Amino acid sequence: MGSLFSNSISLRKNLKITDHEFVQLRDFIYDKTGIYVDIKRKYLFENRFSKRLSELGLTNFADYIKYLKFDTKKAQELTKIFELVTTNETSFCRDTKQLDSFRDHVLKEKIEEQRKAGKRELNIWSAGCSSGEEPYTLSIILHEMLRMELARWRIRITAVDLSLPMINRAKKGVYGEYSFKTTPDNIRARYFTKEAEGWKVKPTVAKLIHFQQMNLNDPMALKRVPRSHIVFCRNVIIYFDQAMKQRVVGSFYDNLLPGGYLMIGHSETLHRVSQTFKPIYHPGTIAYKKEG
Ligand SMILES: C[S@@+](CC[C@H](N)C(=O)[O-])C[C@H]1O[C@@H](n2cnc3c(N)ncnc32)[C@H](O)[C@@H]1O
Repeated sequence: MGSLFSNSISLRKNLKITDHEFVQLRDFIYDKTGIYVDIKRKYLFENRFSKRLSELGLTNFADYIKYLKFDTKKAQELTKIFELVTTNETSFCRDTKQLDSFRDHVLKEKIEEQRKAGKRELNIWSAGCSSGEEPYTLSIILHEMLRMELARWRIRITAVDLSLPMINRAKKGVYGEYSFKTTPDNIRARYFTKEAEGWKVKPTVAKLIHFQQMNLNDPMALKRVPRSHIVFCRNVIIYFDQAMKQRVVGSFYDNLLPGGYLMIGHSETLHRVSQTFKPIYHPGTIAYKKEG
């Protein structure tokens, strides 16, 4: 399981959590998000939640657990919890080798298929899109591939994340240097404009994307996502336990159109998660195909 907390160093004295309280809080989070935290990582709860408890004027985890169950603000508190338990690490063109391989094999195949059928339609779902760098990258790749022809295509990238602050940041589309750490300069120059606050993604790139807050642990919400030719879910299922991985990957399978592809992170695997997809091996990536 990957590192859960992006920033867990603090000079404040942390509150202690008992094993029983840890299990209660862990199970609550699992129930809401599918994110599973091993008891070996108990200290991470102490690190990240202590500040939140003191903001609420609470001095122990038992009172926080009661707050989550009974307080009138318990629904709003969920948003805070989502922020505390997720890692939003991402960047434009993250994992270039995988993306190049995706473009040259998977995307090329889908584009040619559509052209042959005279359709020019493409639906892509970026599940766990964080602050938007992944879906914007996909839009840029499509601009680079289709160029002038893009205007004649109906392309929709549905980009969702659990975290509302991340979705709001994605919609704003303004980024600092960190987001470009894996991006060639010519791509930044072509698809972004420099503003006082940072680099703003150009409207032509943003136009293809529909951002939405969504919990992958909410099967009804997942059913409302338009059927996709390609699903991207990179560096997300790593935080889920086996049962949640199976549920989510099962939903992706149902969502995909016949012949569609699921792309996961290069350090992730569907081994023991799903046998319904056919792994297709390309240099630099494995694409999981729903055979139709
Ligand atoms: C490490 S980021 C990956 C971002 C991007 N896919 C990439 O690879 O660069 C993981 C994202 O998954 C999201 N996430 C975690 N659990 C989720 C859930 N149950 N539903 C929706 N998004 C979730 C987090 O909020 C976070 O933004």
